[in-house]
Amino acid sequence: MNIVVTGGAGFIGGNFVYYMLRHHPQDTIICYDALTYAGNLATLEEAMKNDHFRFVKGDIADRTAVYKLFEEVKPDIVVNFAAESHVDRSIESPEIFLRTNVLGTQVLLDACRKYGITRFHQVSTDEVYGDLPIDRPDLFFTENTNLHASSPYSASKASADLMVLAYFRTYNVPVTISRCSNNYGPYHFPEKLIPLMIINALNNKKLPVYGAGENVRDWLYVEDHCSAIALILGKGRVGEVYNVGGHNEQKNIDVVRQILQILDRPETLIEHVTDRKGHDLRYAIDPTKIRNELGWQPTTKFAVGLKRTVEWYLANKTWWETIVNGEYQNYYEKMYGNRERRD
Ligand code: NAD
Ligand code: DAU
Repeated sequence: MNIVVTGGAGFIGGNFVYYMLRHHPQDTIICYDALTYAGNLATLEEAMKNDHFRFVKGDIADRTAVYKLFEEVKPDIVVNFAAESHVDRSIESPEIFLRTNVLGTQVLLDACRKYGITRFHQVSTDEVYGDLPIDRPDLFFTENTNLHASSPYSASKASADLMVLAYFRTYNVPVTISRCSNNYGPYHFPEKLIPLMIINALNNKKLPVYGAGENVRDWLYVEDHCSAIALILGKGRVGEVYNVGGHNEQKNIDVVRQILQILDRPETLIEHVTDRKGHDLRYAIDPTKIRNELGWQPTTKFAVGLKRTVEWYLANKTWWETIVNGEYQNYYEKMYGNRERRD
């Protein structure tokens, strides 16, 4: 089968490319990626050596380029990871999130309709459900939880989900959607919490924790997310949404402390700074549906995955140093330069 993976030069898409090449070696993977600031060909260096892998540079919102891709490649399956993915950037500049995440998804859906595919899979997020109260540990997001997005990022992802389901109902495009909790692991772009804290700690820089650090995220090792998507492609029912998560809720401050512990760095590096606008309090996925219907189970415990992730950043300094020594410096100054200390 020919599988087009959009956004495959990013964090989860890149990990998914390697997962598929390892577990489904008979398939051919075509990565279609615009190589925005978050896309990185260095991530795909090993994949480039594989005859069952091909890279095509292009924008999912560019209809002409997407149709050309479909004509050339004739994909059986399309898995859409391509997105603007960072909440903080969406608070600064929402427009690109609508263009890529909503209009880009719609272009892909039109191409699927025009050329015919056996499956379009949309990689969505638990953030479409909004947030849960911190003092109600009995509450979880199920597939039936109302969409209640908080940030321009999550609003754009929720809009895309609605468009995907509309193309199923209206045009019978065979779609599936996964809504996963926070991922962590190799190739994670340094703007996100875990890699940012690892890299700052390694550079003896302050670790900027938003507010009190009491917000809760439900962390899943990236390979477990990849296995869930592969399973949905193989056995998932079209028109269905599957939540993906491993019941691993952690307060941000505790995640940061664990990173410092692994690296043997002092907690005095932690600096509480101005909170994120509209900051979601708690995410928590109920994965009952994917477990019962498809038999999916996560395999990597947080302590193991976090240590493995820290070790990956220690062993792959060139990968992240190239990023943090470039345009990222301007980003960091803009986002953190004027953030007040809240100690
Ligand atoms: P990322 O920012 O690391 O990577 C995004 C990739 O998409 C990059 O390679 C970028 O170049 C590419 N891209 C951006 N705009 C494009 C466009 N217009 N055309 C083609 N390619 C484009 O993101 P990620 O963290 O790997 O997330 C991947 C997907 O998974 C996103 O859809 C995100 O919403 C979703 N998701 C992420 C998480 C998480 O914890 N990171 C959790 C659940 C869902
Ligand atoms: O839940 C899935 C989502 O997880 C994905 O859809 C998004 O694409 C992905 O970016 C992620 O969103 P978050 O906003 O949860 O991730 P982020 O790493 O940006 O932040 C995690 C938590 O850490 C959040 O509560 C904000 C906090 N934080 C983040 C940064 C970057 C800090 O305290 N300091 C920071 O410097």
